[in-house]
Amino acid sequence: MAFLSDTLSRVKPSPTIAVTTKAAELKAEGRDVIGLGAGEPDFDTPQNIKDAAKAAIDAGKTKYTAVDGIPELKKAICAKFKRDNGLDYSPAQVTIGTGGKQVLYNALMATLNAGDEVVIPAPYWVSYPDMVLLAGGEPVIAEATAETAYKLTPEALEGAITPKTKWLIFNSPSNPTGAGYTWDELKALTDVLMRHPHVWVMSDDMYEHLVYDDFKFCTPAQVEPGLYERTLTVNGVSKAYAMTGWRIGYAAGPVEVIKAMGKIQSQSTSNPCSVSQWAAVEALNGPQDYIAENNKTFQRRRDLVVDMLNAAEGIVCPVPEGAFYVYPSIAGCIGKTSAGGAKIVDDEAFATALLEETGVAVVFGAAFGTSPCFRVSYATSDEALREACTRIQKFCAGLS
Ligand SMILES: Cc1ncc(COP(=O)(O)O)c(C=O)c1O
Repeated sequence: MAFLSDTLSRVKPSPTIAVTTKAAELKAEGRDVIGLGAGEPDFDTPQNIKDAAKAAIDAGKTKYTAVDGIPELKKAICAKFKRDNGLDYSPAQVTIGTGGKQVLYNALMATLNAGDEVVIPAPYWVSYPDMVLLAGGEPVIAEATAETAYKLTPEALEGAITPKTKWLIFNSPSNPTGAGYTWDELKALTDVLMRHPHVWVMSDDMYEHLVYDDFKFCTPAQVEPGLYERTLTVNGVSKAYAMTGWRIGYAAGPVEVIKAMGKIQSQSTSNPCSVSQWAAVEALNGPQDYIAENNKTFQRRRDLVVDMLNAAEGIVCPVPEGAFYVYPSIAGCIGKTSAGGAKIVDDEAFATALLEETGVAVVFGAAFGTSPCFRVSYATSDEALREACTRIQKFCAGLS
């Protein structure tokens, strides 16, 4: 009898973490590696947030809290939803967990039965399909293509829905493509959901604040108030406030689901870190001006990377609306051989050869369900990005 559970055989380890590990190994061997795999801002957490955490420690706020979060943070979250999204939620409709990741996982654990389907648009964040599988459900992948800038069409959504569909997981701006849905594009999707009253929407708004040019963020419950009763709106402080290590995420939605998520959390991790919760209160209630400052830096880097990648032979890189990722196509490189002799049969071979021959670490598209592409995270210095893109250009020029 195998000791490990059957559940484990249904999931795979995170490919993004695998790339980071491989890059770290090469670095440890003394290689000159530039990692473009990171899923976190390279900025430091703002000082006012750190100070709030220190004050919380000094005030002895270091004990267990209510399982799904302190009232002060729930209040700050309700105010945030009203301020940023025009959504009315009461504290009883809010749950707080150890990162958006735990909140999404709780929601799937609390709602999925064997055979329940979850529609996931591809390219997708690597964790969605595996989380659905861990929770006993079936991921149903709805493809979005480069022609629609990797945004799901209403037709593709309609085609993916069956009587067994429980959720659509919606993510805008997206990890890995950075694509953000306009109000009209999202309304076309919510119109489809209005025709299927058994389908709920889990909106992962983690990159809400990281948007560029004149792009206006919107979220399903705001665009279609008729969906409010079957929408879980998920967000967190990791990306906008450079707080990835603090591990605070949250969600708002119908009380029954919120309570069920709290029940799952009560028998797994219990409350998220008390000190981090007080830091998140300051993040949400305090000054917000550094978000716009950080975004200027991100936008400059996005433009730098998009321009340099589009100048590389065989690469086509769309200009995304948000997040800190670009997702270029490498269709023009497939079937070629690298200067180091590697056959570029697919995007994994491209990423492997790129890392071995140039020291640039990117994540191959198959990890996100759409090939042949790769993901670049531009949450690193302009100098590193310029050097990495120069190496990618040389690598592509060397393909024959
Ligand atoms: C799309 C998306 N959702 C959720 C998360 C989880 O963020 P956290 O658990 O740090 O709040 C991430 C992190 O990479 C993400 O990219």
